Amino acid sequence: MTVQDIHPSLAAMEIVCAETAAAPTAMVVFGASGDLAHRKLLPGLAQIRQRGLLSEHFCLLGCGRTEYSDEQFRQMAREALRKNAKGISDDTARSFIEGLYYVSGDYDDPALYQRLKDRLAELKARHRISGCDIFYLAVPPALYGRITEHLGAAGLSCKGEPECQQCARLVVEKPFGRDLQTATELNQILYRWFSEEQVYRIDHYLGKETVQNLMIFRFANGIFEPVWNRSHIDNVQITIAETLGVEHRASYYDQSGALRDMFQNHMLQMLALVAMEPPSSFDADRIRDEKAKLLRSIRPFEFDEWNSSFVRGRYGPGIVNGQHVPAYREERGVAADSTTETFVAARLFVDNWRWKDVPFYLRTGKRLARKDTEIAITFKQVPHSLFGSVGLDELPPNVLVFRIQPEEGMSLHFQAKRPGSKICMGTLNMSFAYKDVFHAEMPEAYERLLLDCMTGDQTLFTRFDSVDLAWRLLMPVLDAWQAGRTPLPEYPAGSESFPQADALPAADGRRWRRL
Ligand code: BG6
Repeated sequence: MTVQDIHPSLAAMEIVCAETAAAPTAMVVFGASGDLAHRKLLPGLAQIRQRGLLSEHFCLLGCGRTEYSDEQFRQMAREALRKNAKGISDDTARSFIEGLYYVSGDYDDPALYQRLKDRLAELKARHRISGCDIFYLAVPPALYGRITEHLGAAGLSCKGEPECQQCARLVVEKPFGRDLQTATELNQILYRWFSEEQVYRIDHYLGKETVQNLMIFRFANGIFEPVWNRSHIDNVQITIAETLGVEHRASYYDQSGALRDMFQNHMLQMLALVAMEPPSSFDADRIRDEKAKLLRSIRPFEFDEWNSSFVRGRYGPGIVNGQHVPAYREERGVAADSTTETFVAARLFVDNWRWKDVPFYLRTGKRLARKDTEIAITFKQVPHSLFGSVGLDELPPNVLVFRIQPEEGMSLHFQAKRPGSKICMGTLNMSFAYKDVFHAEMPEAYERLLLDCMTGDQTLFTRFDSVDLAWRLLMPVLDAWQAGRTPLPEYPAGSESFPQADALPAADGRRWRRL
């Protein structure tokens, strides 16, 4: 395919791609009969094969409590690909499915891990795999520690064994702990058997194309970095708005809430990418050093200050996309006296030379008016308007928006002359949508992350120092909420916002961008 085939405007663009194919891999997926494997993991791996990047020496051993034979598991996988993978050829599907196997058992039974070990050895010999074993924990978080202990005890973790050092990797889904203490305890278990270089903590937002673009945008262009600071930027807003409610995940979500589910991980990671200093190289640890440094620079909340810095909310009944939906507390599986928040907004400051006193407004919520994930950088207004004589004293600021989803792209809003009378201007929106330029489907975040895990690239995975810093930052808020020291207002499902959330930027004379 030539560059012109992608889009005529890219005719002069030299596209430089660095894509490493996966090394030979044996992957064990715990929770292989579950939802995540069905919706994301199996389709993601098949897409990697379709792109020619999955090694021909690959096999996947599913593991779960559901009793399946290899053939039944393959049947389930066929169904998963049919429903959730796009553009997979019959040949690709067939070759991928031939490499799938299954063992069932109780995760607490040591005999399961012995069976797993024997089967893995047999399959690696059959598929001539000498590379890494990947253990993917697609199971409820309560099982992460227990499964890790069993893997270690069965001799499957390779930690410190020279002949297989770093050749076993552990992939852990979020949430990583539910507070600082549980995250630390879980990490201690992981470190008993795996080193940090072997642990891949997933934050699927980091696998999204437009989130990765943030780094390219900031550090592969010369024109933005000079204005990326407190002298030119007025405020930054990060929004993850969802129309979905709690769906079928009430048992997890009601114990979690928006702060733990979205804020501690996805939102703070995006903030880190927007605000961190340039790393010295595009190397996993150099990037993760900068992210940790940034998280460490977030101004801690003084006692009682959280009240003016954090707002929570919970959806009541309302109308979303034209449909009546019930209140959160009426959803199936949610406790009638639940105090779980489905919305959280915060105002943060980063205390360093670059960002001192620039407010970062972050908000995320379920059952809002629209699905909309974006990062908006609002620049300072011009210091003096030349156009006061025609009533244009206040010129709207420039805004640079990274649209993460659903319409991935970027836009820059600036003032321009409108044709006609001598002084007539308006805001022009210079917009770029990925789908218009790169006609191909946007790859799924999981596809990127699975491939990186197989190539041993930890750049898009969260290192424990970031996890630890994020929990430390949020503990005063969690404690205050737990003690019921802050209101939990209801917002009507389907609303854009609500007064308590609006009050946050309003206190600084600003407002949220419209969804
Ligand atoms: C998950 C959360 O991490 O992200 C969910 O657990 C949320 O509650 C989901 O719905 C949103 O992801 P995306 O990719 O649809 O924005």
